[in-house]
Amino acid sequence: MRLAQYLAHAGITSRRKAEILIAEGKISVNGMVVRQPATDIDPEIDQVYFEGRPVFIEKKIYLLLNKPSGVISSVSDPHGRKTVIDLLPELPQRIYPVGRLDYETQGLLLLSNDGYFTNLMLHPRYEMKKTYQARVSGRVKHSLIEKLRQGIKLEDGWTAPAQVHILHTSARESLLEITLHEGRKRQVRRMCQAIGHPVIHLERTAFAFLTLKGVAPGSYRYLNPAEVNKLIGLAREGQI
Ligand code: URA
Repeated sequence: MRLAQYLAHAGITSRRKAEILIAEGKISVNGMVVRQPATDIDPEIDQVYFEGRPVFIEKKIYLLLNKPSGVISSVSDPHGRKTVIDLLPELPQRIYPVGRLDYETQGLLLLSNDGYFTNLMLHPRYEMKKTYQARVSGRVKHSLIEKLRQGIKLEDGWTAPAQVHILHTSARESLLEITLHEGRKRQVRRMCQAIGHPVIHLERTAFAFLTLKGVAPGSYRYLNPAEVNKLIGLAREGQI
């Protein structure tokens, strides 16, 4: 691996700025100052130092959590509420939620320490699909489902076309399945409110091809490398 790339992966700075640090003689490898940005190193063997301090690359981790409601999607909360990190064991790496689910929303939430992956999963340009089951009040007419599908005007603009199906309906409430590739704040709640059917209960059941199968509320599992690579591939395909 190129030395500048290693420094960027370790989060020291961007690759371009790492090249400048190297040229300035601020980086040493195995005790020797290196000034060639194109230097190759073996991360398993070589010891890299920046201004005398060792530089390590953290192992990347990717978790799928089934977030219960009543838990906040942050690493800490000034109001002392339970966070998604409180649901995990002590890990050697600091990890962060990949996006957010509302405090009351339950379901599939990814967590990772990989900033590149997080950006691919979240940026609207990559159009990653998120599926929700929303229990809403009242019987929802088909004409309103069509509206949700085509796009609806919210205070922050029109929503993109969505996949929407009625899974169950009665006079009291309906269960909708909604698949979005946007990720605006409280989007599903605001869409349902806008058609006059407020959400009673909301769960994210899928993120792209990942589901909650085998993961009970409050528990988690690691993604395997094939799943991570597939997610990255999907994001790249969706790029516009
Ligand atoms: N839409 C919402 O309204 N809430 C969420 O948590 C996620 C999507």
